[in-house]
Amino acid sequence: MGRLYHTSRAVSSAVVQLDGGDTAAEFQAFHRAMEEEKQPTGAPHFVGKKEELIEAKRSFRTLEGRDILIIYHQSFFYAMDSYCYHAGGILQNGDIEEIAGKLCIICPNHKYKISLAKGEGMYKARDPQEKPPVHRWYSKGVKQRIHTVTETSGDVYVKLSEDTCWIESDFFQGEKGKVERDKAAAAEKKT
Ligand code: FES
Repeated sequence: MGRLYHTSRAVSSAVVQLDGGDTAAEFQAFHRAMEEEKQPTGAPHFVGKKEELIEAKRSFRTLEGRDILIIYHQSFFYAMDSYCYHAGGILQNGDIEEIAGKLCIICPNHKYKISLAKGEGMYKARDPQEKPPVHRWYSKGVKQRIHTVTETSGDVYVKLSEDTCWIESDFFQGEKGKVERDKAAAAEKKT
């Protein structure tokens, strides 16, 4: 396996992390969704021939009931949950930009930035203690579940993350998350 394949694993926090302003109801929703989670088998899944995936650049696959986005960008493959951790937006058509030295996909819905390598949510803020305050990029920690991509003799495989910590994108893979995704998609169509 050469430099072509990115195989990093999500570095998860040991606790559920909520963005500012999240409510107890959302916290409970996360826990209900965690109960829906099935444990991955740990098996690598064939997802396509290398050349096909390179040509497609973005490929959608469902593995063990989980919807995954496979991305080919600047000679590397990445795989992540295909729905944005924020509100379940479809990441497949998001632009990719380098932010603070990290390649990030930008969710088309509300422009949240997610690093391809680790699934970190990136945000810009300024430290009021700093004089004068300057806007800088920071990481919120891992928000999007990242999966491992490997290649053998031109065949590409994805192994689902076995990290047992809750990661916010998990919510949108469950039944309740699907309902929320559908509601959000319907609202988008109306606007
Ligand atoms: S759904 Fe992705 S930024 Fe809101």
